[in-house]
Amino acid sequence: QARTIILGIETSCDETAAAIVARNANGQGEVLSNIVRTQLDEHKAFGGVVPEIAARSHVQWLDHIVAQALDAANLGYKDLDGVAATAGPGLIGGVLVGLTTAKAIARAIGRPLIGVNHLEGHALTARLTNNTQFPFLLLLVSGGHSQFVLVKGVGEYERWGTTIDDALGEAFDKVAKMLNLGFPGGPKVEEWAKKGDANRFKFPRPLLKEKRLDFSFSGLKTAVRLAAEAAAPLSDQDVADICASFQSTIVAVLERRCAQALERFQEEFPDEVAQMVVAGGVAANQQIGEALRQVAFEHGAELIVPPMKLCTDNGAMIAWAGAERLALGQVDRSNIAARPRWPL
Ligand code: KG4
Ligand code: ZN
Repeated sequence: QARTIILGIETSCDETAAAIVARNANGQGEVLSNIVRTQLDEHKAFGGVVPEIAARSHVQWLDHIVAQALDAANLGYKDLDGVAATAGPGLIGGVLVGLTTAKAIARAIGRPLIGVNHLEGHALTARLTNNTQFPFLLLLVSGGHSQFVLVKGVGEYERWGTTIDDALGEAFDKVAKMLNLGFPGGPKVEEWAKKGDANRFKFPRPLLKEKRLDFSFSGLKTAVRLAAEAAAPLSDQDVADICASFQSTIVAVLERRCAQALERFQEEFPDEVAQMVVAGGVAANQQIGEALRQVAFEHGAELIVPPMKLCTDNGAMIAWAGAERLALGQVDRSNIAARPRWPL
């Protein structure tokens, strides 16, 4: 088929999102529209995402967001060649809203349904934005995930490492909460860190010496809490110093892990230029971005950071994963289940 047009729906966390993506015969993608409605304000007061509020909000908004996505692309339902939705992993109430809506649309227009693994959406985004070729390494660092994935092909993923406790974005959010900086915490911590002394506090660097590519952030989080308690009442300078020390610890851990991951990639694929894609909300952090760029440079590797809008949760990444799967004939039946847990 020459050109396929896919609707993608994402509702697995606190973004209600829909997008239209086209894929041409050469496998190149184009985002025709990408609508994201964040529920941040609805969850703010609770310092985190409340699943029941999220699900209800998705119910309220999804139909409008899908209509907006079609309008913005100047298309109607009849123009779609397939409908993709996140089928997991994620908050199950939200996933059910998106997947059920996708099933209904697919059935109504008589087009294929593709139930997409949210992580696969993140994993394949760089092929939409940068036309990245297989194989490549993905570092996914968001509020819900911290993992290294070797992406060998559509549907061919090897998880090389993951977090054994908190996700990285979650660690940022929890530190921000301890310091009363607001939610989401990542951007706040980064802002405060700019004015702080990164050498003032020595925090533990979990698993730093280990060979495996896993992460652990809960001990670090506890160390930050103890430091904050010991220094209380906190002056602005104290807060800035804690943020700077925390962030530089994270940077040290990521540098080490990424170096190891790139070296493993180069061992397994000696004939390829190593490519590392960084995705997820934490990729927005400038200090982290610069550090990883440096690590990639030192390893003769290419660092690929898709535009932030497509790196954080969105419908385009789901539509694109759906398009890639559809091109291979990998479609789903309407009885596909929503899955709260679904490792790649
Ligand atoms: O990918 P994302 O938008 O949503 C999912 O979690 O799937 O990631 C959100 C996470 C939050 O935990 C947020 O605190 C973190 O990304 N984040 C950051 C920054 N911007 C967002 N963490 C560190 N530095 C940032 N500048
Ligand atoms: Zn995500």
